[in-house]
Amino acid sequence: MKNILLGVTGSIAAYKSPELVRQLRAHGFSIKVVLTESAKEFVTETTLQAVSLNPVRSNLWDKEAEAVMNHIELARWADYILIAPTTANFMAKIARGSADDLLTTLCLATKAKIVISPAMNHVMWGNSAVQENRNILLNRGIVIIDPETGDQACGETGIGRMPEPEFIVAFLINKVMNIDRPLTGKKVLITAGPTRESIDPIRYITNRSSGKMGYALASEFRAAGADVHLVSGPTNLPKPEHMALTYIETADDMLKAVHKNINDVDIFVAAAAVADYRPVVIHKNKIKKMKNDLIIELVKSEDVLSSVSKLEIAPFTVGFAAETHRLKEYALKKLNDKSLNMIIANKVGPDHGFDQDDNAVHVFWGASGKIFKKMPKKILAKKLVLLITEKFQIKFEQKKTNPSNITSIR
Ligand SMILES: Cc1cc2nc3c(=O)[nH]c(=O)nc-3n(C[C@H](O)[C@H](O)[C@H](O)COP(=O)(O)O)c2cc1C
Repeated sequence: MKNILLGVTGSIAAYKSPELVRQLRAHGFSIKVVLTESAKEFVTETTLQAVSLNPVRSNLWDKEAEAVMNHIELARWADYILIAPTTANFMAKIARGSADDLLTTLCLATKAKIVISPAMNHVMWGNSAVQENRNILLNRGIVIIDPETGDQACGETGIGRMPEPEFIVAFLINKVMNIDRPLTGKKVLITAGPTRESIDPIRYITNRSSGKMGYALASEFRAAGADVHLVSGPTNLPKPEHMALTYIETADDMLKAVHKNINDVDIFVAAAAVADYRPVVIHKNKIKKMKNDLIIELVKSEDVLSSVSKLEIAPFTVGFAAETHRLKEYALKKLNDKSLNMIIANKVGPDHGFDQDDNAVHVFWGASGKIFKKMPKKILAKKLVLLITEKFQIKFEQKKTNPSNITSIR
């Protein structure tokens, strides 16, 4: 994975830098941070060290580090130097080739691509000195993420705000690195595994779902660049990396966890096998064996999938249909009844679906469909994420306009 040296300069927008580091790390990049002296007025070295998991430097004259010429090592280590936020002062310094502190020296001593995200008061940004420096830097091949228009810390409104970390990360990955991560900047919420509905403190009703398919999908969405939140029922699977995780037990817990996290979600995938019914009464004490048969009364649980697909602003919603028979008929009925964008149907039974490493599915969307023959769930997950991404982009992306602040890239 790539090494990114994050430079932070003395702008009020430096408060966004720890979050920027966190998000870059979540995408698998190694991050080292260098601050200017002014930046230390806005954000602490301790915070940035904690989030980057690497020592933070600011002073060129650090005797210990420079005993081994660490500034040259840093300049060589970096694949990219991202300076966010970049002050007007720092733009001027690199435009004229200064090397009077650690960060400016690194910018001269590196072969890495330099990307800057200027942030300043709108009058400063409009100043011809700043604009001339911007042109010098562009002509030198430095990538500039132009600031956004909006409310500024000084109380005025205008162009000068540093874009949010999500935007900078997506820009870096998609426009600068040209890595094919089509879901960068998108949020995916995915449910996986079974639920457990208690009868008494000892017994519960559950199903044979292992969570393997949902976990494999979550990892593939992550690999496609999405910001993933997995809501998981009880499974024996290892904790997946680089994603948010909420463990739940009952269908009701799942419903609550999903709705707590559904805001701004672009794609919702319901891969969990949620209990349709739960016991009316959960006995406080263990039910003792009796002479007669025991009847447990069940009540219907609220449908998690429909509760999302029927939201006023619903994400691209993908359901799963696990059926023992009449697969296509039941899957199409579920697709229409629940107003889903897509349904992934699989046969379940002794040799299919649940708790297996392989799976075969039939996917339906609109009036179309596609069959995926039996294959390992991990490979299937990759193919399904590609298909979901393609259909999601067709449905949702057409509406979006290109943000204006990506025009400065050279
Ligand atoms: C509260 C405060 C906020 C500031 N915010 C910015 C800013 O957003 N952008 C900017 O270019 N300068 C800003 N400055 C001015 C810079 O901190 C100043 O020019 C400094 O010398 C920059 O040093 P550096 O470029 O080495 O980090 C601010 C100063 C103060 C006191």
